[in-house]
Amino acid sequence: MDTVSGTEQLHTRLGIWRRAGERVAFVPTMGNLHAGHFSLIKLAREHADRVVASVFVNPTQFGPREDFEHYPRTLEQDQKGLAENGCHLLFAPDVQTVYPYGAAHTVRVEVPELSGLLEGAMRAGHFSGVATIVTKLFNLVQPDVAIFGQKDYQQLLVIRRLAHDLHLPIEILGAPTVREANGLAMSSRNQYLTAQERERAGVIYKTLCTMRDEHHAGKPRKTVESDARHALENAGLRPDYAVLRRASDLAEPHEADRPPMVALVAAHLGRARLIDNLLLAQ
Ligand code: PAJ
Repeated sequence: MDTVSGTEQLHTRLGIWRRAGERVAFVPTMGNLHAGHFSLIKLAREHADRVVASVFVNPTQFGPREDFEHYPRTLEQDQKGLAENGCHLLFAPDVQTVYPYGAAHTVRVEVPELSGLLEGAMRAGHFSGVATIVTKLFNLVQPDVAIFGQKDYQQLLVIRRLAHDLHLPIEILGAPTVREANGLAMSSRNQYLTAQERERAGVIYKTLCTMRDEHHAGKPRKTVESDARHALENAGLRPDYAVLRRASDLAEPHEADRPPMVALVAAHLGRARLIDNLLLAQ
């Protein structure tokens, strides 16, 4: 697997594959890769002849008090893992290449409504930063298919919406969440947890499963949500939200209709802020 950092080198590689009629899959990441990321690479291989990954810690999706400076950067280790998992090309640009006018002066992509809910309400500007970088990377790589984790469910919805609304000829695929043995969703931010906190964080997945079971048993939505908050608080976590929402757009459904639903949690534990979700079968 080769690594390129410039757009010309990227286009040269992609051009060879395109002229040979090969199908290209793309997996964007911020690096510090783990088994969750590698599952996306494996899925990408099933959907294309060539797999391109990117590693880029995107400044525009971090808030001023967030961990941009301290976000773990482990490029050598990431290259090794990507190669082992069958990735063909890594694009690892610097900030200047991606944001030639500077990150603060970039043209931005805004996805209305969805970007203001839940994660978007807690992290102002976050989804605008995500939509902007993903659009730029899509334009640079021009993949046939792109893979995103359901772990970041709201992000997946934002990206599906932007691809559809901007008429991008790219198929967007969602991949299942890879978890630790205790149910904790794998995340680069889990390394902010102590060993003891990691064990305790298993309560998030347990809570999502309880939300699902209570919902299926017919409990009112508000009761399910307050039970979930209490379960998280009792385990020593500080929830930002624990909610049941409509799976298609994260709106609050009317009690009377029973659309497909998703349970979503965001909670602080020690130095980490963790998010997870569970799609509820109808
Ligand atoms: P990052 O957090 O590095 O995640 C890259 C991709 O891996 C995302 O699609 C994410 O949903 C997926 N992923 C993370 N943990 C996972 C897990 N446990 N199981 C399955 N998939 C998992 O998400 C981003 O980067 C950025 O916002 C990005 C889209 C790259 C834009 O900068």
